Amino acid sequence: MEILVALSGASGVRYGLRLAEVLEEGGHGVHRVATRNARRIMEIEEGSPDTGGPWMDEGEMDAGFASGSYRLDAMVVCPCSMKTLSAVANGFASNLVTRAADVMIKEGRPLVLVPRETPISAIHLENMLKLARLGVTILPAMPGFYHRPEGIEDLVDFVVGKVLDSLGIDHDLFKRWGLD
Ligand SMILES: Cc1cc2nc3c(=O)[nH]c(=O)nc-3n(C[C@H](O)[C@H](O)[C@H](O)COP(=O)(O)O)c2cc1C
Repeated sequence: MEILVALSGASGVRYGLRLAEVLEEGGHGVHRVATRNARRIMEIEEGSPDTGGPWMDEGEMDAGFASGSYRLDAMVVCPCSMKTLSAVANGFASNLVTRAADVMIKEGRPLVLVPRETPISAIHLENMLKLARLGVTILPAMPGFYHRPEGIEDLVDFVVGKVLDSLGIDHDLFKRWGLD
């Protein structure tokens, strides 16, 4: 599959970094784009704004996938800030991430958003509901604990595994409930 992994400026850029890594290891074509705020958070959380890169800049509006004529198989915004969520929910396609997401919706292609915020306001919830009703997958960064995580990486892999599940991609990132 050809998948766009977009990082926006929410905490938890590690989820997106790991997602891009796992997809590439699985032989998928991965495009990487990060907003400027995501790069700042990568610097804060991971030590470098280019971790796992190179990352296309949000200003590169001439990228192929900014057009509906380019056929991406799926796009995941991971993590997704409340600002990017709001822009996508309202068709405010002002940077490469929000434009690419806008294209996925208008073309009826798979789009997964991994929001990270707490608490969540009524504004955030309304934006999520609107998108869910349009067929966008809202997959919050909410790791479960029933697989008995031993560390942060297990929690990250749980969320990344759920993203892969939503795209129909096989993985063994976490132990499934009911399977020994
Ligand atoms: C260290 C840090 C952590 C942040 N964490 C979050 C977060 O978890 N969720 C969120 O919605 N915004 C978070 N923000 C705020 C966003 O970065 C801010 O709203 C920004 O405008 C998002 O822009 P973008 O979506 O274009 O990347 C954080 C900002 C900083 C500096």
